Amino acid sequence: MMFVNGYLNYTGSKFKLLEQIIPEMDYTKRYFVDLFTGSFVVGGNVVDKYDKVLANDIIQDLIGIHKSLLESDDIIEKTKLLCPSKENQDAFLELRDSFNKDKTPEKLWALILCCNSNLMRFNNNFLFNQTWGNRTWNTSTDKKVEEFKNHIRPYKDKIVFTSKHFNDIKITKPSMVYIDSPYGFIKDEKTNNIGSKQISEAGYNCYWKKEDDIKLYEYCKLLNDKGSSFMVSGVLEHNNNKTWILDKLINDGFNYKELVFDYNKVSKIGVKNTIEIIVKNY
Ligand SMILES: C[S@@+](CC[C@H](N)C(=O)[O-])C[C@H]1O[C@@H](n2cnc3c(N)ncnc32)[C@H](O)[C@@H]1O
Repeated sequence: MMFVNGYLNYTGSKFKLLEQIIPEMDYTKRYFVDLFTGSFVVGGNVVDKYDKVLANDIIQDLIGIHKSLLESDDIIEKTKLLCPSKENQDAFLELRDSFNKDKTPEKLWALILCCNSNLMRFNNNFLFNQTWGNRTWNTSTDKKVEEFKNHIRPYKDKIVFTSKHFNDIKITKPSMVYIDSPYGFIKDEKTNNIGSKQISEAGYNCYWKKEDDIKLYEYCKLLNDKGSSFMVSGVLEHNNNKTWILDKLINDGFNYKELVFDYNKVSKIGVKNTIEIIVKNY
């Protein structure tokens, strides 16, 4: 199967796992929800398979980038103008300050392109704090953006982007809901309860609290009761810790499958004792 790559470098992007994830979706449903869309690489690769695709993410300006790119090239022009040259660290720092004072989608995109490893990162006050990356918009960006926009624009009328907390997305019709939340909180092996640390680091962990994992567990149960299909993907085990929510869904009897990945190709959170899975209710 051929998939279109995302146009943003994104921590936790599922691009390298699409071959294993996409065939596992429930295609008997007409609506697809990418509840934690990130780079939109999952939703973007099923647009031809469903009548409607809803893509949601809590980061408003990230959704702003996707939304604008779906409509026109304006955001491309604006972002290129904002991107400092590769050598200009001062201009990067100015842009970062400017974004933190007055956020716009094009400033966020320019920051992603110019920051360290292209990986956006926010502090606990939701301020962008990734360091300078000595990089900028380049020909590879042009190519990726061109491919992605040409892939999604024909499906413009089917795609809806929203920026909400996932719990505010109410699913009213039976849907296929893909759930790729931030790294979950670990299970406390002594009490079997949810612990107080996330299983790994990501630049958007400031948006995720222990209560969100608990709400997400309830959300999955509700989807199941209401006739929707869900697929949750995530890291079940890492460094001898278990993710509470995935372990709990498995103990409830939902099906799960271990994903296989090539450590050389897939940028992973760690070493070889990481187990990445999908859990499904169908
Ligand atoms: C693992 S990433 C998703 C990656 C995506 N599947 C991809 O392939 O690019 C998790 C996403 O959840 C978003 N997020 C964090 N907290 C959220 C919340 N409470 N509600 C909705 N989205 C949230 C983050 O901004 C991040 O983009």
